[in-house]
Formats: sequence, structure tokens, C-alpha cells
Amino acid sequence: MDCVLKLDRLPEKKPFQEGIRRAPRRDSVLSEHDMEIALKNALRYIPEKFHEELAPEFMEELKTRGRIYGYRFRPEGRLWGKPIDCYEGKCIEGKAFQVMIDNNLDFEVALYPYELVTYGETGQVCQNWMQYLLIKQYLKELTNTQTLVIESGHPLGVFRSHENAPRVILTNGLMVGLFDKPEEFNRAAAMGVANYGQMTAGGWMYIGPQGIVHGTFNTLLNAGRLKLGIPKDKDLAGRLFVSAGLGGMSGAQGKAAEIAGAAAIIAEVDYSRIETRYKQGWVSKVSDDLKTCVEWAQQAQKDGTPLAIAYHGNVVDLLHYLINNNIHVDLLSDQTSCHAVYEGGYCPAGISFAERTRLLAEDHETFKKAVDASLKLHIAAIDELHKRGTYFFDYGNSFLKAVYDAGVKSICKNGENEKDGFVYPSYVEDILGPQLFDYGYGPFRWVCLSGKPEDLDKTDAAAMDCIDPTRRYQDRDNWVWVRDAKKNKMVVGTQARILYQDAMGRLKIALRFNEMVRNGEIGPVMLGRDHHDTGGTDSPFRETSNIKDGSNIMADMATQCFAGNAARGMSLIALHNGGGVGIGKSINGGFGMVLDGSERVDRILSSAMPWDTMGGVARRAWARNENAIETCLAYNRDNEGTDCITIPHIADDALVHQTVLNALKD
Ligand SMILES: NC(=O)c1ccc[n+]([C@@H]2O[C@H](COP(=O)([O-])OP(=O)(O)OC[C@H]3O[C@@H](n4cnc5c(N)ncnc54)[C@H](O)[C@@H]3O)[C@@H](O)[C@H]2O)c1
Repeated sequence: MDCVLKLDRLPEKKPFQEGIRRAPRRDSVLSEHDMEIALKNALRYIPEKFHEELAPEFMEELKTRGRIYGYRFRPEGRLWGKPIDCYEGKCIEGKAFQVMIDNNLDFEVALYPYELVTYGETGQVCQNWMQYLLIKQYLKELTNTQTLVIESGHPLGVFRSHENAPRVILTNGLMVGLFDKPEEFNRAAAMGVANYGQMTAGGWMYIGPQGIVHGTFNTLLNAGRLKLGIPKDKDLAGRLFVSAGLGGMSGAQGKAAEIAGAAAIIAEVDYSRIETRYKQGWVSKVSDDLKTCVEWAQQAQKDGTPLAIAYHGNVVDLLHYLINNNIHVDLLSDQTSCHAVYEGGYCPAGISFAERTRLLAEDHETFKKAVDASLKLHIAAIDELHKRGTYFFDYGNSFLKAVYDAGVKSICKNGENEKDGFVYPSYVEDILGPQLFDYGYGPFRWVCLSGKPEDLDKTDAAAMDCIDPTRRYQDRDNWVWVRDAKKNKMVVGTQARILYQDAMGRLKIALRFNEMVRNGEIGPVMLGRDHHDTGGTDSPFRETSNIKDGSNIMADMATQCFAGNAARGMSLIALHNGGGVGIGKSINGGFGMVLDGSERVDRILSSAMPWDTMGGVARRAWARNENAIETCLAYNRDNEGTDCITIPHIADDALVHQTVLNALKD
């Protein structure tokens, strides 16, 4: 096995294909010394004989793009997640991960494929193309008694392990506490030692915006049930949902709203993203005229027909129009990339998209000021709509945190700082947390590695078979979702499916799929999940925002989930800093599990799948979340003799309150 990148000659410099989105210049404040380190770090991947030629080229990338991507090393043409048999490898996992990586970098799938960004403005598979090539080189040689270690995109090496150990263990952007902040991260990323893995970008489990359509559909439907009084067997027909963003994940909003029956207007400043969603059929109408957008929406509401409209323009302008024209909005959110608000994730009002890109590159201070001013206008408009009866929720993009950082203290519950949360709920706090995560329902997913649509059809049917739609309304929603998934044309990239399921539901489906692989009914399957789940993520502004025992600022759960999945033998395990909310604001992890039909895999699934989810439900139960306690009591009953989750005693609120009052009086 080669321990350096095999490179007899330098690949030719190639032109960039027109029409493929490119990342803006990334922020980095580097000293002369830092720049020298950045250059030496990038050259570590390249034989010395090529350094003279490459050093100025890498330096130019650092100066103009803020990072060294090593563009010259990107393989020519389109990358895509090909059928597994097209890949070389000495073990099935080594081949399977190559499918996943290439899918994450597909022009059709990735946000900025040349910069290895899959989604979420900054979420990268790895930092540069030299790492990509070296990772692939290792994956081709990896055997089933070895483990490849990846640290922030850098393949540290392959180490001996055993058949039941993970084949890949990867971490992204984990920083020492004192330095765990965006400026330090940007410096480290520019020097080539830190990767922003987002969640499934750096964890190689992205399956296109389908991944989030299901979560968004669940969120909107349950928001309607909880806040608009819509009965459990009805949808959002006649209701208006307004939001912003048609990018990597946010692109799911229009589709999810249509599946949930609503009329939706989604603002998007970047026309190229609207085009992508329109071509996919994920938005049905497009206009840059506000009057037209509103007329379309109102007609759809009147007819009770679903309709997703893309408004090409700034969300702040859209909200002002709705206010000035007294248009009632039922549900309101935002999914601009506020986790990277000053890096280009949020386009300020009054500035075109092109001007935003220029300012980002040339005048960051002015850009920052414009972002802050726009966020203030944005939240004032939300306040006004809220007063008029709109239900607004933060969509896990750090929007409220960004508003607070822009100087709006009144957004905080305690009027001072973010410690007690914000005056508006996060969607997890009010909706996904109590309705789904506390029961263990989360974004389970799979990829049919054969690349055959028929395999996906078979797995859809098998998954439906494993769900009892009469048990809970969540099960009915999930059953309907998978029944209609093909009709809703969810696939972008690999033949993949997302399906929210609880712990034992996931296990049942996983075992059924493995059996189907064993029987030769389907090819191998990669199982995984979004990190945005019950057990994998500690994130006080999102996944753990409905945990109220003070532990929402702790990162023990995600770390334990990661370690436990490794101990039980998941094929790939990942742990990241940042995720959907930004550096220092979450620790999140996920897994990938290759189903090869073996009994060995059955055994791993039987212990790893329940742990991966129930570790999270157990922590939610310990935090006294009612639905989680109910779920854990049932789990303890069903799994007596093997598992036992600690259940809290519940203190009486009045007793506690009086005791504290008395103590304070003394
Ligand atoms: N809720 C969830 O489950 C979830 C999941 C994944 C990601 N996220 C978060 O959602 C955010 C969006 O993710 P993404 O992958 O879609 O990112 P993205 O960067 O691909 O898309 C965001 C889009 O917002 C647009 N935009 C920015 N400012 C705008 C403005 N003022 N008006 C109109 N449009 C504007 C951008 O042009 C971009 O297309 C991120 O912060 C991400 O972390 C949430």
C-alpha cells in the first residue's frame, strides 16, 4: 500500500466548466507565517520535484479563493456515484464509500463541486483534491481487517483492526475549546488543517435534498397540526407557507410544502439555484414579481391545491410586500445559510447576489455591516407578521442566533443573552423534538449501491411492509411517505431513500434489507442517517433545543453515540463540529453501514441500530421529556435482560419552586 499520493507526473490544469456554481472567496486572516504554513501543508501531498511549479499556483488559490483546493488535481469531467461494481477495492466497504464520496461531489448534487462543497454553503467532503485522491487510493487498497482514519479530510493512514471494527473513522473540525470559534476555524481551514464537514457532507452520507424533504414535510405538517389546529388526517390545503432559500437543503422546502398540500412562496436570491429546483420539478412556478407570486399563491389557496412558488429576490423584500399588502401568512420560516452568515450564507437586503459576491471578495467589513442591517429589518418584519397571527419558527439554520449576533438583544428570552434561548422557537423545540425525536423517529436513510432503480422499488416495498401504519400517526405519515416517494420523484444522485423511523423500526427494516441482499433479491445497500437525529447531535440551538435540564450545552451524547457505534462495528462513523448551525455551536455525528447480506452484519445491526437511536432517547428521558420517558419505559419492557435505561423520578414543580424561594429568602 502506498503511503503517499501516487503521482508520476502533474495532471494538466483544466478549465472550469461553465454554469457550475463556484464558492465565493473564503474569509481568512493569515499572517505571513500562517501563509507559509498553508503552502507547506498543501505541498505535503506532492512529491518535492513538483513543488517549484505548484507553489505559486497554490499561493494564487490561497490569495484569490481564501483556500488551497488544488483544482488541478480534480479528476476531469463529471464525478458521480456510479454503481458499486464500477469501483476497485479489496473490501465491499472500500468500494461503497467511493460511491458515496463521488455522489457528494456530483455536479447534479453538490453546491460547489469544484470546491468539494456538498451543501450548506461550506460543508465539504474534504479540504482539497489531493486529499480526495489519497482517500480514494486508500479505499481501493483497504481490507476488511484495517481501518482508515480521516482527520478533517486528511487521510492519516490505515491501521490494523479486525473484521468487526469500523472500516473508516472520521472526524471533522473538532477544535480545542479555547479556539473553538469561527475566526480560529477559518484560519485553521485556510492553513489546510480543518474541514467543515457540515453533517453528511464530511460524513459522506448526503443523498441530495430528498434527505431534508421528509424532515421538512414532517415539520410543516406537524406545525399545522399543533399551531393551526389541522386534524391529524388532513393536510395543509389552503394554507400559506413562506420561507427563504432554495439551495442544497433549503431546496427541499418547496417540494415538502407541496407534498404537505400547502401553497408556498420561497425567496431565493441566486437564480441558478431556482433553475435547478425548477428543472427538478421541486418548485412549480418562478417569478421576480411579488404581485404575481402572491396572486398565484392566493389562487392555489382558494383552490386548495398545492403550489410551490420561487420568488427570485430577497426574502426581506418579500416579507415587506406581504406586510404592506395585508397578506396572511400561516407558517413562516427561513433557511438561508445563517450558520455561515458572514461567509456568504445570507445575502443582505438591498444588495444583488452579484454585488454580495463582489463585496465578500473585496470589502468584507461593508458586507458584514450590510448583513447585520438586513437581519434587523428581517426580524422586524417577522415580529410584525407574528403580531398578525403568523407562526414563525427557526429552521435550524442559526437564524435567531445570527439576529442576536447582529445586536438584537430583544430576541433573547432573558433580554440579555442566548443562554435561555430565543423568543421564537426552533422547529425542534416545538415540533420535531417532542413529536419525533423523543420517540426516536429520525432521518434513517439508505442507498442502493447497485445503482438500480428496481432495487430502490424493492426496498421501498419492504420498508412499507415493516411499518404498522395504525400504531401512531407518525407511523401513518411515514408509511404514506414511502408509499408516495417514487411518485414524488425524490431521487437526485444515487438511488437513495429517506424514511423517518424509530429505533426498532430502523432495525427491522435494516435486517429485512440485509436478508434481501443475502437472498440475491437486491444488490448491497448502504444504510445511514442524517446527523440531524435523536442521538447523534448535541446542538442547543437545534437538535437538543427541547432538552430543558441544562444539559443542552453538553456534548456527551454525540460523543457517546460515536464511540458506541464504533464499539459495535458500524462500517463508517463520523463526528463533526458545527453541522447546520456553525462552528462551536454543535457536535454531531453519524454512521454508514454496508449491508453485504452476511450474518456478521445482522449481528452488528442488532446491537448498533438500537444504540444509535436509543442513546438519544434515553438522554431525552433523563431530561424528563414526557414522550421520551414513555418510549424508554416501553423499550425497557421489550428488551428486558439485554438493555436497561435509567428512568427519572419527577420532582413536583410547586415543591421545587417553593424550596428555591425559601432558600433565596434566607
Ligand atoms: N432544518 C434542517 O433540518 C436543516 C438541515 C440542513 C441544513 N440546515 C441549515 O439550513 C441552512 C441552509 O442550508 P442549505 O444547504 O440550503 O444552504 P445553501 O447555502 O445551499 O442555501 C441557502 C440559500 O439561501 C439563499 N439566500 C441567502 N440569503 C438570502 C436572502 N436574504 N433572501 C433569499 N435567499 C437567500 C442563498 O442564495 C442559498 O441558495 C443552513 O444554515 C443549514 O445548516 C437546516
